[in-house]
Amino acid sequence: MKYRQLKPFPSDFLWGASTSAYQVEGAWNEGGKGPSVIDARTHYPEGTTDFTVASDHYHRYREDVALFAKLGFKTYRFSIAWTRIIPDGDGEINQEGIEFYHNLINEILKHNIVPIVTMYHFDLPQALQQQGGWYNRKTVDAFIRYANVLFEEYGEKVNYWLTINEQNLMILQGEALGTLDPHLATQADKKKNLYQQNHHMMVAQAAVMCDLHSKFPQSKIGPAPNIAVIYPASSKPEDILAAFNYNAIRNWLYLDMAARGEYNSLAWQYMVEKGYAPEILPGDVDILKSGKPDFIAFNYYTTQAVEASRGDGQDEVIRGGNKLLKSGEEGVHRGAANPYLPRTEFGTEIDPVGFRNTLREIWDRYHLPLLITENGLGAFDKLNDQGEIDDSYRIDYLQRHIEQMQLAITDGVEVFGYTPWSALDLISTHQGCSKRYGFIYVNRDEFDLKDLRRIPKKSAAWYSDVIKKNGI
Ligand code: BG6
Repeated sequence: MKYRQLKPFPSDFLWGASTSAYQVEGAWNEGGKGPSVIDARTHYPEGTTDFTVASDHYHRYREDVALFAKLGFKTYRFSIAWTRIIPDGDGEINQEGIEFYHNLINEILKHNIVPIVTMYHFDLPQALQQQGGWYNRKTVDAFIRYANVLFEEYGEKVNYWLTINEQNLMILQGEALGTLDPHLATQADKKKNLYQQNHHMMVAQAAVMCDLHSKFPQSKIGPAPNIAVIYPASSKPEDILAAFNYNAIRNWLYLDMAARGEYNSLAWQYMVEKGYAPEILPGDVDILKSGKPDFIAFNYYTTQAVEASRGDGQDEVIRGGNKLLKSGEEGVHRGAANPYLPRTEFGTEIDPVGFRNTLREIWDRYHLPLLITENGLGAFDKLNDQGEIDDSYRIDYLQRHIEQMQLAITDGVEVFGYTPWSALDLISTHQGCSKRYGFIYVNRDEFDLKDLRRIPKKSAAWYSDVIKKNGI
């Protein structure tokens, strides 16, 4: 649909940016913090740093928040490290960790920035992981207790909460995100284990949504999966069927449960057929039904095209540049490259129109207000001789996505905030610190920490202007 005039962004639209604790804080063993699964990791892709220092935000958060304020951020989305609050996941509470986040939140509020808190962003306490992680039902109780500690401590100051970051990718890409149990013998055992973890996360999420609502009825909470519409690679009916399959497995399984408290029927049949269906305890259905999100947050980077499974043993072969997204599954779908889309330096397809498609689709399904918690471009940014970073490619990427967001708003979609990845440079999940996403450059290399100086990039000035003009 083309419009003669676009609707403006709402006047209280939350413009800002995002980070996560383990990717930005550093201070991995300071302040009483316990080890997380990230700290327990011993192998990194060749040539990439670990997460011990990251961007040293733990020590420099005041300077960082002041910079965000200077750029005009209305909001800042960050995560709390579970292991700073409860070092072993379900034991004693660590007062120093509690204080750290009080200080951070106070600093954010002092600058009139709205805090949006993710409770769990990939960094499960290692002590829980050693007892089976999310496969063990104990982790559900540990998460509920942890979330309630957060509500009691910060509930008066924080109005927007996100439960679990990218739960769907933790299940679909368990190997890259550390949820896959390598000791299990077969692929089927691994997947069955992952879908049981998924069920436990769903129950935990629903329970804490209820808890927040009973303690702070004015506060708002939502899930934060990574959602992207799946395209059929052609108009061949079998390809369209494959796109329905993968949409259900990748996207709607997670949002149907979060928003409606029920398993998506197609995704459920898939799990039954494959032997991955989780065990559901008596009482789970009631908990799942009772948890109601106030909004849907989601991360959006790119879409994916799929074709029909060929059943030739090759569906699971990774093809295309984006190694995490282009594999398929026997009898379900096969990943396909999308010839219409350009790619980033890291091979990720760039699809701003897909952003509008995704926004429309989620709105149509759930009619809940939407918050975009991540969107961004990873690149090898370089400091030039003038000591500046000209990241015009990032401006181009973000501008195109913001345009599509405004078109979606004009389509009738309710969107109330946008926090692209990332507020400042941080460590990528699996590609080191040279894959930069930030508006603010952090002066360090993979193995040379240099002075960790903060230098706003060209995109920072541009984004600041976008915020000032409310997206015009
Ligand atoms: C999202 C995650 O998947 O994408 C972030 O929530 C992550 O933690 C971001 O950093 C970018 O991905 P990557 O792998 O390039 O760091």
